[in-house]
Amino acid sequence: MSLLRLSQVSLQYGPAEGRDVPPVLQGINLDIRRGDFISVIGRSGSGKTSLLNLAAGFLSPNLGRIEIDGRPVTGPGAERAVVFQDDALFPWRRVEDNVALALKLAGVPREDRLVRAHRWLADVGLDGQGAKQVWELSGGQRQRVGIARALAAEPEFLLMDEPLGALDAMTRDQMHELLLRLWRQSHAGALLITHSVEEALFLSTAVVVLAPDPGRIVLHEEFGYGRRFLDGEDPRALKSEPGFIAARERLLSAIYQEEHA
Ligand SMILES: Nc1ncnc2c1ncn2[C@@H]1O[C@H](COP(=O)(O)OP(=O)(O)O)[C@@H](O)[C@H]1O
Ligand SMILES: [Mg+2]
Repeated sequence: MSLLRLSQVSLQYGPAEGRDVPPVLQGINLDIRRGDFISVIGRSGSGKTSLLNLAAGFLSPNLGRIEIDGRPVTGPGAERAVVFQDDALFPWRRVEDNVALALKLAGVPREDRLVRAHRWLADVGLDGQGAKQVWELSGGQRQRVGIARALAAEPEFLLMDEPLGALDAMTRDQMHELLLRLWRQSHAGALLITHSVEEALFLSTAVVVLAPDPGRIVLHEEFGYGRRFLDGEDPRALKSEPGFIAARERLLSAIYQEEHA
């Protein structure tokens, strides 16, 4: 059982001395296990992207530790895949080559790469689209390629920064189902940054609320709606349950409490 652990993590951009700006993140404790689906929500500037960049190994903390199974994280690694806010695909490569490139980096032999890329594309609903150019795809399709590329390397952890932020509501709902299905199938631990409270609540095994200045965790609560959906319950019925609505209000007030205080 793999564990990505942030212990007492603080982050400050640039030299800290001589400045009275609060740290971007302070005293963050967060565990992500395989099989977890953890969403992080919070106001703009609360440090969500910084938190994901720390977990990905793109940034190092000023204080505290980031470890996988007790080993310090010192940079990016193949066991952690990232899906970016904008699709971050190579626009001059075909769809299948974007996925196959991730497999190349993961050390998959050449003859296997395209076969596996096509299988992943089929898994995200893009069967037969591999030979298309990236610019021929819609925004939702591009994000599917980004997810296929991330999962193709069979990571232990899937780190996503607002991957659905630019999509329309109907496409988002379809992507929720896809994400949950792929999450269960891959047994990865997911960390999702989102600005949608409802999305966080519906998908996650736990939701973390960050408050800004300094960025810190003000609420950490567990939920089971995504699992219930995967077990066959109707999403609209789940989202209109009194418990769901009350939880949404609780999360919203945790996000906005200090603004109104
Ligand atoms: N590379 C950077 N250099 C300096 N400050 C940064 C950098 N990236 C983010 N910040 C600052 O850190 C704070 C948190 O940013 P970010 O992690 O992007 O928050 P969020 O994703 O929640 O909007 C913001 O005040 C932002 O201006
Ligand atoms: Mg952000």
